Amino acid sequence: MILSKKLENAINKQINAELWSAYLYLSMSAYFESKNLSGFAHWMKVQAQEEVAHAMRFYNHIVERRGRVLVSAITAPPTTWKSPSQVFDEAFKHEQKVTVMIENLANIAAAEKDYAATSMLKWFHDEQVEEELQTDTIVQKLKMIGPSTGTLFMLDHELSKRKKE
Ligand SMILES: [Fe+2]
Ligand SMILES: [Fe+2]
Repeated sequence: MILSKKLENAINKQINAELWSAYLYLSMSAYFESKNLSGFAHWMKVQAQEEVAHAMRFYNHIVERRGRVLVSAITAPPTTWKSPSQVFDEAFKHEQKVTVMIENLANIAAAEKDYAATSMLKWFHDEQVEEELQTDTIVQKLKMIGPSTGTLFMLDHELSKRKKE
């Protein structure tokens, strides 16, 4: 079944959004490097790589459906934050927005009875549950830590162990 123009445009926009997410997390990674929090930086670098993989899933879906991928300019993300807590608050809020984007894509696919796109999007619904959970878990841990630098370094060490998926 040929991909509709409407869905093709929407998925092309999502490719851009996923790459913007990668850029956002790379910027957050660079911020953590500048604060000597290399574990946090590592976690964000892995997250950025995951976002590129998300973009590629959408890219491949368009290609496999004989659609046309059109890449577009990626706007600059923020470069500085007040604290590790603020970084993760923003990361969590960003993932909540991405969840809505994925739901909107699913609504278009459902309206068009595009079962192939619906099936492809199922993976993303599950992924968003994971993304929200893991960013919110770190938000909550940072809240518990508060101003304690010692405990912050313990979390930094924990985050340094994140594996590439
Ligand atoms: Fe993503
Ligand atoms: Fe993930």
